[in-house]
Amino acid sequence: MTDLDKDIKDLRVLISEEEIQKKLKTLASEIEKVFTVDEDIYVICVLKGSVMFCADLVKHFNHSVQMEFIRISSYGNEQKSSNNLQAIDLTLPNLHEKNVLIVEDIIDTGLTARFLTDLFKIKHHPKKLAFVTLLNKKCARQIEIEPDFYGFEIDDKFVVGYGLDYKGYYRNLPYIGYFPS
Ligand code: IMP
Repeated sequence: MTDLDKDIKDLRVLISEEEIQKKLKTLASEIEKVFTVDEDIYVICVLKGSVMFCADLVKHFNHSVQMEFIRISSYGNEQKSSNNLQAIDLTLPNLHEKNVLIVEDIIDTGLTARFLTDLFKIKHHPKKLAFVTLLNKKCARQIEIEPDFYGFEIDDKFVVGYGLDYKGYYRNLPYIGYFPS
């Protein structure tokens, strides 16, 4: 029993597990093309939301990969984005002149993507920096920013599953779902 005000029985599937898994293969091969073949890719998994996406995506890479994990918080328990970005854990190795791929779950307002992109460019001076997000809510943008790669463009609705949560729940679902209003 949870204290959630939204019940899983009302959840509708927006993107199925099969669609996600199929997309990962094409995304991975597109991404790999922008990196030099014999160089490592430093994959930055932005916790907690991109945990599933990142873990599944890297399985399709032929490059040698190093995985790093950072934690950013912007939402709290709400369904609205906040300007209050918090870098909770940003411990990273030296990425100077390295190939870096930032892996996000969703770009909504764009604030987190901007924060991360600026941070990596200014602080780490990578050789190549690319940004991939599974979901792209283009219509919700508050600032102009586009990822280098994305899996699916979605409408401005709050989604859960495959790493994305509502009040900490539903991250474990293998698909992306939404609660109809
Ligand atoms: P942004 O800074 O507004 O682009 O939001 C980025 C972060 O907000 C994402 O990494 C998610 O953690 C969270 N977020 C945005 N939209 C949703 C959603 O529909 N469901 C769950 N989390 C979301």
